[in-house]
Order: sequence, then C-alpha cells, then structure tokens
Amino acid sequence: MDAYEIDPDRALPAEAYRSEGAYETELRRVWQGGWVFVGSADQVAEPGDFFTTFLGGQPVIVLRNQDGELSALSNLCAHRGTLLVDGPGNTKRFQCPYHAWTYRDDGSLLSVPHAAPNEVDKDAHCLPSYRCESWHGLVFVSMNPEVAPLAERFAHLESLAIQHGIGELQHWTSQREAEEWNANWKLVISNAMESYHLFKVHPETLEPYTPTAGAYYLTGSADGTATGGTQKDDDDYVLLSLPPNFVGVISGKSLLYQFVEPIAVDRTRTISGGAFDYEDPARASKISGLLSKATARVSESLMPDFLPEDKWICERGQLAASGDFAPGQLVSMEQVIVDFHHYLNRQLHNAETPPAKTAPRE
Ligand code: FES
Ligand SMILES: [Fe+2]
Repeated sequence: MDAYEIDPDRALPAEAYRSEGAYETELRRVWQGGWVFVGSADQVAEPGDFFTTFLGGQPVIVLRNQDGELSALSNLCAHRGTLLVDGPGNTKRFQCPYHAWTYRDDGSLLSVPHAAPNEVDKDAHCLPSYRCESWHGLVFVSMNPEVAPLAERFAHLESLAIQHGIGELQHWTSQREAEEWNANWKLVISNAMESYHLFKVHPETLEPYTPTAGAYYLTGSADGTATGGTQKDDDDYVLLSLPPNFVGVISGKSLLYQFVEPIAVDRTRTISGGAFDYEDPARASKISGLLSKATARVSESLMPDFLPEDKWICERGQLAASGDFAPGQLVSMEQVIVDFHHYLNRQLHNAETPPAKTAPRE
C-alpha cells in the first residue's frame, strides 16, 4: 500500500499532497472506506427522488425508494459499465442509455432487451448497493458495509446538533456554488476546519466578524470535531468538521457549509451551500445575502466574499507540495486538524484513535 506517514500532531508531509500512489490509496481507504457526505435529505425528499455523485471515483446514485427509505446504488450499468443515469431526477426505474438494461430502485435487474428469456442471469447483474444514512438532514454514503451507524459515529456531537436544530433547517440546494480548486482535497478541507488562519488570510472579510482570537475547541475525535467562536453582534458560532469532506458553520438558525470531492491528487471540487430556518425572516434575509455573495458582492450583506481568499491559500499550499519539508508542529488552536489526522491515520494505517475529548471553557 502506498501511503504517507502521519504524525497527528504535525503537518502532513508534502508527499500527502502530490503522490499519485497515496491518492489512489486514499480513494479506496478514505473515500470508499467509510462515511462520506454527499448532500442533504431534502434533495431526495419524495419517493423516487435521486441525485448522482462520485465516491472516490465510483459513480453513485443516492435515492429515496418507493418505501421512503434512503439508499445508494452504483451508477455503473452492470452490462458494460456505462454511466447509468444523470441526476437529479425522479424515477421508479433506472434505464441505461446504451442498450436499455433496466433496474428497479433496489438495484435488481428488471429487463434485458433483445435477449432470450434466460440468456442473462439477472441475479448476477444487480447494481451493488451501499450504506446510506441521514444525520440531522445531512446525507452520508459508505461503500464500506462494515462502518458503525452515523448516530454512533457522531454521538459526541449529537447534543450540539439538537441544540442548534440543524435537522430542521431547509437546505438551499439551488444556490449551491461549485468550483474546482488546484489543490489536494486535504488542503481544502483542513483549511475549512481551522480558525487559526482567519486573522491572516481573511483580515477584512472574516476576522472583523469571527476573529481568530475568539475561536475555541468544544469537543472532538477522529470521528468529527466541534469548535466555536465569538461573533461580532451575534451569538457564538459552532463549526462542525465531519471528515473526510464536510465543514459547516452553525450561526443562529443557519448552517453554511463547504464540502469537497477529489478530482485528482492536485484538484478538488469545492461546493458551498447553506441551510436556514425559513420561519425566521430576519435570519433568512441575512443568510440569503451571504449566499448570494458567493458570486456577487451585495453591499448590505454582512459578510463579504471570503472563498477566493481560501482558494488562493490552498492553491499556494499545492504549489509548495513539489518540495519537501520537515512537517511543522501544529499549535493548540489547530486541535481540529490533529483530530483530522487521527481520522486519516485510522483510515490509511488502521491506527487506534484516542477517545473523544471535550475542552473545558473558561
Ligand atoms: S452498458 Fe448499459 S445496457 Fe449496455
Ligand atoms: Fe478560510
């Protein structure tokens, strides 16, 4: 197996951001080896609703079946492997555009055109299905059937999720923004997790509202971390980091989030979106302002556009990854990155991970 060494208390070696072999290992052991965030439950609200995504290169359909249950199927036709469907959509059957083999929503093969009745062994040509669960409206898929249920994995974050009502928020899927950044996925997601860089990378956009000095650790482990921070003229925010690919900021009755999908060792799709409480008009207008800022500056908006600054610093990290350096020490403010490294160490090296810890607040 080709994978880099990890000292959880230090930065990752540059090899982690440039090695094709390590990237292939990550696709199998991280992206196909456990829970990955794919979208929100309201994207598949009704029976028959589906959308498509990729998990470590594997095409996947996420759907709500006719019994109202969430599930996930391979989006590769079992005949000659063509991409089966394009989402989003609503259907009871999935028909391949190549030779029209047709599958039920449980993945079983229903019909094969122009073949004798028993010519194709239908049971041997089902679409593989994967674990699919929702945690407070956040949908995750695991191609590894052995993983613990999401409720167990995120048990240490459960009270925060309930306290902030994130399961009741409505996701503004149509306003999601997707961009491709020239940086390894770990550079992008670890940058989203930590608040240490706010004062330097975002001196005018984020630091005045959510200063680095006001950030603190709440609770965390390899399974996910909650940090918090003070916010100008508002209650403290909570930041949920759910590795490998989801970071969300809860502020009042809103959730702004960023998630990533790897495209290549040095290229990452970065998707940002939001969810909020439509019942609270003041909040709704504030959040809609924030979201529309992703593409256009709105003068009344409370938070200017900070994503270009993150893109710049992540791509700068990738430019340096052709060199070598002795991985530097992480400071206490980066405990969330240490947790993420424990997660990587478990996925890549089967390492034991420390139990969840909670920081006492002064
Ligand atoms: S590849 Fe799908 S029906 Fe032939
Ligand atoms: Fe940032």
